[in-house]
Amino acid sequence: MRAFVLPDFERLPTLADIPTPEAGPGEVLVRVRASSLNGFDLSVAADRLRGMMEYRFPVVLGKDFAGTVAAVGADATRFAVGDPVFGVVMKPELGDGAFSEYLAVAEGYGITRMPEGLDVHQAGALGLAGAAAWDSVEAVAPAAGEAILISGASGGVGAIAVQLAAARGATVIGTAKPGEESAFVRDLGAGHVVDYTDDLAKQVRAIRPGGVEAVIHLAGDAPQLADLLVPGGRFASTLGVGSDQLGGRDVRATAVMANPEAATLDRLAADVVAGTRGKLAAPSPSRMRTREDSMPVLAIVGAGPGMGLAIAKTPDAIALLYWELHTQRDKIEKVFTPSGGEQLIS
Ligand SMILES: NC(=O)c1ccc[n+]([C@@H]2O[C@H](COP(=O)([O-])OP(=O)(O)OC[C@H]3O[C@@H](n4cnc5c(N)ncnc54)[C@H](OP(=O)(O)O)[C@@H]3O)[C@@H](O)[C@H]2O)c1
Repeated sequence: MRAFVLPDFERLPTLADIPTPEAGPGEVLVRVRASSLNGFDLSVAADRLRGMMEYRFPVVLGKDFAGTVAAVGADATRFAVGDPVFGVVMKPELGDGAFSEYLAVAEGYGITRMPEGLDVHQAGALGLAGAAAWDSVEAVAPAAGEAILISGASGGVGAIAVQLAAARGATVIGTAKPGEESAFVRDLGAGHVVDYTDDLAKQVRAIRPGGVEAVIHLAGDAPQLADLLVPGGRFASTLGVGSDQLGGRDVRATAVMANPEAATLDRLAADVVAGTRGKLAAPSPSRMRTREDSMPVLAIVGAGPGMGLAIAKTPDAIALLYWELHTQRDKIEKVFTPSGGEQLIS
């Protein structure tokens, strides 16, 4: 089967033919129809997880998946062949991934049935960012009327967290660059948008002089954000920041590890389908994401739910784009090549 793999630490990710996996005991084989790019994939491809996780080469990239069950392994009873499913690859070592035609995953964790009405492309972008957003919002549990500052609100996790927090009746202050990004965050339900490239503290204090009750840290300077909390405020970070990193501040901090258990995936999917509770918006096809900070290998846009325009800086990145074009062609409008050329896809 075709897969987008990291062959080893010395080479760049590339498309390759590798053996099609088989569903082992307790596993299902998924025919992948959609996936999306997360920061995690960039970290894997850039060796940032070397020493932290085992790399079983060739490492197939890709955490999020959506597709149909193609086979079930021995003792696997939860799904039947043909069932539409989506989820997140949650294996302890790096090796199997979703940027492939087929993927074998345990049936018990990180996978659920795709409900009717959930578009396969939305499902392929929902799992990891959605679970991280869900767990972050739950960790700080903003109540109606409380103010919550979401730093990184314009990103994949943030876009969902804004909607979930707003649905709880909280006053959401989201960070974004002015212009299109800011309008996007406001549209998701943020009552206020602050420009993170300017004096953030001043802008937040102008809205809530006494501070905010909760902070979700998806980007930016954690201590600076924690200083904007009321005494005893709640802080959640997807970047591994817990109490230890926040010194002696009077805050309750949680380092969130996204837990895409079926119950969470089901709630997220139901929200997208219902489109009511906080109108959990489907990923916007026209949304543009840039990854200028990422390494040259995969400077690709589309982390989290917003696939739209993709930028590639190397031929290998273009290979990935073509894989994405295969599965998400209706979501990609343009590909920019490293030479500055531009290719229109439509
Ligand atoms: N712990 C976990 O289980 C877990 C799970 C999922 C994700 N994560 C991590 O959580 C983070 C967010 O993930 P994501 O998928 O949402 O990433 P993303 O789509 O790349 O979004 C990051 C957002 O942060 C914004 N940003 C950049 N610098 C900022 C700053 N100084 N202040 C405020 N906002 C800033 C970016 O805005 P611009 O577009 O303006 O640059 C972008 O919108 C990533 O680091 C990811 O690796 C962790």
